[in-house]
Amino acid sequence: MYVCICRNVTERQVREAVVRHGVCNLRTLRKRMDACSQCGKCALEVKTLIQETAAENAMLEQQDMAA
Ligand code: FES
Repeated sequence: MYVCICRNVTERQVREAVVRHGVCNLRTLRKRMDACSQCGKCALEVKTLIQETAAENAMLEQQDMAA
């Protein structure tokens, strides 16, 4: 599903940027893939997606360390 229509960025691309490349906020995401750089209407949704993915990823890493 597209989260940024102006720049054709999908939810999956944002999640991959967080998990694989350590993106942790809109600024670093914009440097990586140009998302949220036109109308800006997607910014809140993308910001929330980054935060949720980062939290999920941190929880999975903690589970891996505990195992
Ligand atoms: S929808 Fe993302 S910049 Fe317009």
